[in-house]
Amino acid sequence: MSCYADHLSTVAARFDEALAATGFDAVIIYAGQPRYAFQDDNPYPYRVNPLFKYWLPLSHSPGSALYYQPGHKPMVLLYQPRDFWHAQAVIEEGEWQQYVDLVVVDDNAKIAGHLGDKLKRAVLLGEDFAEPAMSWPVAERNPQALLDYLHYQRAIKTSWEIDNLRIANQYASRAHVAARDAFFAGASELAIQQSYLAAINAREIDMPYNNIVALNDHGAILHYDIYQAQAAQPVRSFLIDAGAYYNGYCADITRTYSVEKNGFFPELISAMDGKQRGLIETIRVGQNYADLHRDQHWNTAHLLHDFGLVNGSVESIVANGYSRLFFPHGLGHLIGLQVHDVAGHMKNPQGELHDRDPLHPFLRLTRTIEENQVFTIEPGLYVIDQLLEPYLGHADFNWQRIDELRPYGGVRIEDSVVAKASGVPENLTRDAFAQLNID
Ligand code: GLY
Ligand code: MN
Ligand code: MN
Repeated sequence: MSCYADHLSTVAARFDEALAATGFDAVIIYAGQPRYAFQDDNPYPYRVNPLFKYWLPLSHSPGSALYYQPGHKPMVLLYQPRDFWHAQAVIEEGEWQQYVDLVVVDDNAKIAGHLGDKLKRAVLLGEDFAEPAMSWPVAERNPQALLDYLHYQRAIKTSWEIDNLRIANQYASRAHVAARDAFFAGASELAIQQSYLAAINAREIDMPYNNIVALNDHGAILHYDIYQAQAAQPVRSFLIDAGAYYNGYCADITRTYSVEKNGFFPELISAMDGKQRGLIETIRVGQNYADLHRDQHWNTAHLLHDFGLVNGSVESIVANGYSRLFFPHGLGHLIGLQVHDVAGHMKNPQGELHDRDPLHPFLRLTRTIEENQVFTIEPGLYVIDQLLEPYLGHADFNWQRIDELRPYGGVRIEDSVVAKASGVPENLTRDAFAQLNID
């Protein structure tokens, strides 16, 4: 069986189980359609319903739907309007077409007619803010119990999904190298972003999230995405957090660079790199991800201590919560069809959640690690004045050292890893860079 066929049979089996457990007969998964800006006839960029692309490697077929009833072949109602205003994305011959009943409709109002009474037994999964989905006479719309079940299962990736994530990392790493080269050539943030996209023939709407392209102190703004068109003067540092899609699966990679080859900041990057790699080496199935996040706070405290940013012992830095001022975000998140993949806090398919630690409100993943979960490991250390403000002048902090780091923004290093049944995880990101002969 091919990898995709195997994936499809796993997805079907997961839907069978989820539908049986929640008491529904069938689903219609709507791919969604573009939304329009207020009082405007220009749409926002379209994003496909992730549950649609879970079944099919189709991300550019708005208005289409997939109908699935356990025990039957999925039916794909592919919307291909006759429209002289717009081009249609070309649907290439693909393996998926062997495993579905394919119905091409030129008017998506015809989907309901085609399904007839089947629609009444089906649950709608997807957006229904507009016609045709708004009027479909379905049994229920987006029932939480069914979504919980399906979302919980999505954390464990099939081999086909892992292949897609591997390739997404290969694309993104190639673009990262182009961006790095543009940075060292003195380019502006905007020009670096353009180099990134050009390296993989992508446009901004092809990115899974807004790339973070940050020179100097902009690196301390966690989701910085206002690209300056002027080159920075002087240029010191570069933090880039940027991804790519492959078959609808996401890469999410961060790297940090320094213009200076020696000194405080390049040493901090290298120390963070060592801590990040070391932490990944410790990952094993059965651990809780929240514990890894806490382990990273000890790593951060060591860095704050060793680089002289905070006074006192490593223990006191952790106990006083100072590591959270410099590393306020989570260690990472599940990744797959969505960059922040769903169900990061779920304890079981019934929708029970893991308790959240109020000290770590931004942590997106608190699940127990299982084989073939794919998640990011993205520790950071930044000078964020808003968080340090309450401590200004406090003797526990080395303000001179903090002032020295501020113009560099901060450091983040982010890889995606696959948890293995035993031993260390597969690092999709480092492996992709290694193929390019980049460490
Ligand atoms: N790029 C968003 C994140 O790293 O989570
Ligand atoms: Mn991430
Ligand atoms: Mn990221």
